[in-house]
Amino acid sequence: MKKLYILIPLLAFCSILQSCNDKKLIEVVEVPLPTVTEQKMLIGSPEDVKANEGSFLLDKLGYTYNALTPAILPETLEMHYSKHYLTYTNNLNKAILGTPLENLTIEEVLAKLDPNDAIMRNNAGGFYNHSLYWKCMAPKAGGEPKSNLAEAIIKDFGSFGNFTTLFKSEANQQFGSGWAWLIVDRYGKLQVTSTANQDNPLMRNALVPGTPILALDVWEHAYYLDYQYRRGNYIDAFFTVINWKKVEENYDAAIRK
Ligand SMILES: [Fe+2]
Repeated sequence: MKKLYILIPLLAFCSILQSCNDKKLIEVVEVPLPTVTEQKMLIGSPEDVKANEGSFLLDKLGYTYNALTPAILPETLEMHYSKHYLTYTNNLNKAILGTPLENLTIEEVLAKLDPNDAIMRNNAGGFYNHSLYWKCMAPKAGGEPKSNLAEAIIKDFGSFGNFTTLFKSEANQQFGSGWAWLIVDRYGKLQVTSTANQDNPLMRNALVPGTPILALDVWEHAYYLDYQYRRGNYIDAFFTVINWKKVEENYDAAIRK
C-alpha cells in the first residue's frame, strides 16, 4: 500500500512534466513565412477569367493584376476583376437572355433599359462601368492629357488643375457607392458628374446625361484593402495611373458622334 502512495503522485508529476514539455515543443515550432515566389503564385491571371456563355464577354484587363502598384494592390485588382466584374457580367447575360435587348450593344441596352428593372439596371451598368474603368488606367501612366482633350479641358474648366480639383471633389462627395465621370454632353461640352450605385450618364434617368470618357469607381470594393476609409488617397492614386491616351481616344470618338 505504501508503494502505491509513492507511485501515484510520481505518475501524476511525470504526466505534468510531459505536458509541459509538449507545450514547449508547440511553442518553439517555427511557421515559415511565405516566400516572395509563393506570394506571387497566389495572384492569378486575368486571362484565366471567363464569363459564362451569353451576349457579353469580359473586356480584357490589358495588364496584370500587379501592374498598377503602388496605386492599386494586386489583391484588390484581382478581386475586383475576377469576382465583382465577372459577377455583373454573368448576371447581365442571364438577365438579358430572351429579352428584346439581347442583341443590342451595351450602349444601346443602357439607353433603352427600364430604370425600374433593378436587375438589368445594376448589372448592365456594372458591366459597362467596369469595362470603361479598366481601360482608363494603365501602368506607368498619369500625367496630363495632350492634343484635343487638353484644349477642351482648358476651354471648359479653365485649366487642368481646375478640372482635377473638380473631379476629385465630385468623387469624394459621392455619398456611398457610385462613380465619378468626365463626360461629353449633348452639346460637345466636357462635364464632371457622379452617379450612385452602378448607374451611369448613358441611362435615361441620368441627371447629367452624356458620353463617359473617364470613369472612376468609388465603391469601397475598389479601394478598401489599400486605403480603408481614406477614399481621398485612392482618388489621388488613381490620377497617377490614368491612361490619358485612351481617354483622349474616347473624347475624339465622343465628339465625332
Ligand atoms: Fe467596382
